[in-house]
Formats: sequence, structure tokens, C-alpha cells
Amino acid sequence: MERLQAAIEKARAQRTEPESPAPRPERPRPGPRPSAAATAEAWDKLSELQVSRIQMHRMRIPAYEGGIESAPYDMLRTRMLLQARKNGWRRIALVSPHSRCGKSTTAANLAFSLSRQRDLHCMVLDFDLRRAGLTTILGQHSAFGMADVLERNAEFAEQARCYSGNIAFGFNNGAKVRNPSEILQSPRTAEVLDEITATYAPDIMLFDMPPLMASDDNFAFLQNVDCALILVAAEKTTMSQIDVAERNVAELTNVMGIVLNKCRYMTGAHGTEYDYY
Ligand SMILES: Nc1ncnc2c1ncn2[C@@H]1O[C@H](COP(=O)(O)OP(=O)(O)O)[C@@H](O)[C@H]1O
Ligand SMILES: [Mg+2]
Repeated sequence: MERLQAAIEKARAQRTEPESPAPRPERPRPGPRPSAAATAEAWDKLSELQVSRIQMHRMRIPAYEGGIESAPYDMLRTRMLLQARKNGWRRIALVSPHSRCGKSTTAANLAFSLSRQRDLHCMVLDFDLRRAGLTTILGQHSAFGMADVLERNAEFAEQARCYSGNIAFGFNNGAKVRNPSEILQSPRTAEVLDEITATYAPDIMLFDMPPLMASDDNFAFLQNVDCALILVAAEKTTMSQIDVAERNVAELTNVMGIVLNKCRYMTGAHGTEYDYY
């Protein structure tokens, strides 16, 4: 971990960027928050998410049950929340240089971890429109996908599922979406997101994104979020992939941090050295 950090610092230092890069335009914030009663009613109307314990175990979602196995995800949740609060960030994209870094798995774990934070209402939206990643992990079937919602062919409430009253999931159904990148950069997408924000007033919205290297989807969409968390896979993602990913994301939004996922060897310093006490 320390070696990764040192290598990232070195790559940053070697960059020949101008002293003070042009300031990124502030993302326009949606209007005033709705009344608490209207928000509560909107959450109440969402269908309940039903998941099986066996499926959660099979798909590596320890945060579903909580406890010791969930500690690294709980720690990530808490650090994410602290940073979000400090900076006034609400929309967080989970991105990675290439596929299979664990974005969807992490999004699902963070969702269950966040569900125990009873004072918060959060959304986890599958914005990898080309796949049914989150849907498959949670063992769901969805008649509509997020692309249908963003194109106004379906209402968010028709396809969203709510867990424990405070976490809403937006799924994809694996149906072929013709123009994902065009959908993601359309002004209509920004409008639909603002409407969802206005209706449900989520404290945090997590966006499970496609890989950066696979398409221009992220470049099209990241202007709609406050920050991005970059996930990389231990022993798989190269330093230059991390460097390019960080630079690309930094051009579009704030970089919340880099998570080294899939570590086979842990020292205990990152949420694994924990017992009941
Ligand atoms: N922390 C982890 N440790 C081990 N395997 C993981 C971890 N996170 C994800 N995986 C596995 O990696 C594979 C890809 O995960 P996924 O979440 O679908 O990645 P992505 O959404 O980035 O493409 C899945 O088989 C998943 O179970
Ligand atoms: Mg995925």
C-alpha cells in the first residue's frame, strides 16, 4: 500500500502540468429541497428490495450482514462520508481504469453499509448502461433499466428498489442500449437526475460507472457528479493506468481518492484487524 502511495505521488510530481490549472466550473446545484413529508412519501412508494443471503455471500457482499467481514467496506463508507461532508459533495462516481476492479461489488457493499447509517438516505445507481452488473450481483430482474429512466421511457419509481427504507437502487436489465454515451451526456440526463434529487433528496448518490478505458461514457457523464472514487485492482492495474485514470478524472471532476481493491495480503491497517471488543 505504501509503495502504491509513493508511486502515485512520484507520478504526480513528474507531471508537467501548469502551476495553476484552469478552475473547473462548479456543477449547478438543483433548487431548494422538497418538504420532508413529500420526500418521505416518495421513499415510501418505492418497492422493497428482496435479496437472498446465499446470493450475497456468493457475490462477495459481506456488508449485507455487517460485522467483522464488513469492516473494510464500513471504513471506506465512513471515510467517504467524512470527505463528502467536508466538501459538500453528494454525487460520487465509482470509476476504474479497466473492468473487473470491483466497482459494482463495492457499490453494493457500500449500499448495505450505508443502510445502517439510519440518519442518511442514499441512492446507488447503475450507470454502466451496457451491463446488468449491480442487478446480477443482487440477483434482481428489472423490466426497465436506468437508460429507460434517463430517456424518460420509464419512471425512476417503476424500476427502483428500496432497502431498509433508506437506500434506493437503480438497476439495469442487461437489454442492449444503443447509445449509452450519448444518453449519458445528454442535457436530459442532467435534468432527470435533478428531478430524482428534488423528489428523494438523497444525502449521497453513488454512481456505478463503466470502466474508463472501455468507452467515452465517463467522459460524457462525470460533469454531473461532485467527485469520483477510483478503484484499482491489486496485481492487475498498472501504475500507468492509475496515473492516466487519475489525470483523466481530475479534468472532469474532483478525485475523492484511489482504492486498492482485491488485495490478497493485508496488514490490518485498512480495516481487517478487528475483533469484537
Ligand atoms: N475485494 C474483492 N476481493 C476479491 N474479489 C473481488 C473483490 N471485489 C470484487 N471482486 C470480484 O471481482 C470481479 C469483478 O467485480 P465487479 O464488481 O463486477 O467489477 P467491475 O464492476 O469493476 O467490473 C467479481 O467476480 C467480484 O466478485
Ligand atoms: Mg460493474
